[in-house]
Amino acid sequence: MTILDIIEKKKKKLSLTEDEIKFWIKGMLAGEIKDYQVSALLMAIVLNGMDDDEIFYLTDAMLNSGEVVDLSSISGIKVDKHSTGGVGDKVTLILAPLLATFGLKVPKMSGRGLGHTGGTADKLESIPGYRIELSRDEFIKQVNDIGVAVISQSGNLVPADKKLYALRDVTGTVDSLPLIASSIMSKKLASGVDYIFIDVKVGNGALMKNLEDAKKLANMMVKIGNRYGKKTFCVLTDMNEPLGYAIGNALEVVEVLDTLKGMGPSDLLEVVVSIASLAVSTALNINEEEAKVQCLKKINSGEALTKFISMCEHQSGDIKSLEISKRIVSFRSPKAGYINGINALKLGEIARAMGAGRYTTEDKINYKVGIVLTRKKGDYVEANEELAKFYVEDKDIKLNEIWSCFEIGDESILDEPLIYGVIK
Ligand code: URA
Repeated sequence: MTILDIIEKKKKKLSLTEDEIKFWIKGMLAGEIKDYQVSALLMAIVLNGMDDDEIFYLTDAMLNSGEVVDLSSISGIKVDKHSTGGVGDKVTLILAPLLATFGLKVPKMSGRGLGHTGGTADKLESIPGYRIELSRDEFIKQVNDIGVAVISQSGNLVPADKKLYALRDVTGTVDSLPLIASSIMSKKLASGVDYIFIDVKVGNGALMKNLEDAKKLANMMVKIGNRYGKKTFCVLTDMNEPLGYAIGNALEVVEVLDTLKGMGPSDLLEVVVSIASLAVSTALNINEEEAKVQCLKKINSGEALTKFISMCEHQSGDIKSLEISKRIVSFRSPKAGYINGINALKLGEIARAMGAGRYTTEDKINYKVGIVLTRKKGDYVEANEELAKFYVEDKDIKLNEIWSCFEIGDESILDEPLIYGVIK
């Protein structure tokens, strides 16, 4: 068997066998298969796809390329949640402690952000002192003690994905559903939980730009999970406008605290509660409507907030010292009308240029900067009324770019729902 035979086979739209996929992944990690050969194979997969068996074999080969976390010393039902990424997506920070208040165990490993969408790990690191890296023993002890820990992904979890993702990023081969499904699921399955919940974001600010692709991706991931005997659920949610009002690390943590105090934005709360009630009803076998009522109770009573604070304290985070930039630039609407669109992708890119995100893995994030929308889709604004506040530091913002993020019309057009459905 040679890698050239495998590339030729995929070029001819033929299915690869389990042995061929294992040969590729093993040879790549050993340095025997060169980056240019892997890149050629990736492009052939982008163009010619993979069938269900190939996707499963690839996930399996990636999953077994590194450490598979053993969570057997955590007692109780273990739940994981993942998002395919979106602008202002701070759902994990609310959902993880909320699920823990039900007695579920949430051993959560989160990535740092690259691209216009920020990572959960970065958001938590904006809390001064927060230890995102815990030893395996500390991680397990904290989850056993308080039910939840959110840490960064271990260095040796799915090394094949790290290698492949780095190549995909620079060879135009990110947007392949089989490659995305196997990349996400290999990491989720390696993290050793009982139930997996995935928030598949759909819209201009997300990896999946349309509902059809999002459904295909969700079906692939559910199939992979089920073949492993891990119950997997995908919730499809909108990412055409940012989630909530805040974009940028410390600003998003402030919004998380507001939401946990029962004073958060309605769209953010709706996404959190829809995923949480699905998780609670599935894992604890209770009616979903009842689970929803209980989720809201745990937020409104402050129980979920107490759990979040406890998690931060256990990981040495000093939430009272959270800092946001004091230099605020107000952006006002040049005209009156209904807000019919707020472009998540463009705002995410502006936030990144302000320093809230990275262009390369070496870039340092400025946690204090970002954007807080004053208005959301569906609102009416008068001319010269504020649309957003920009929390800036050293980098200037271009006001003309900002105006192109907003669509304002004489009539209100509300098209997309916030939750498109669940695939299980
Ligand atoms: N997120 C991942 O983890 N992998 C992908 O390929 C895309 C998004």
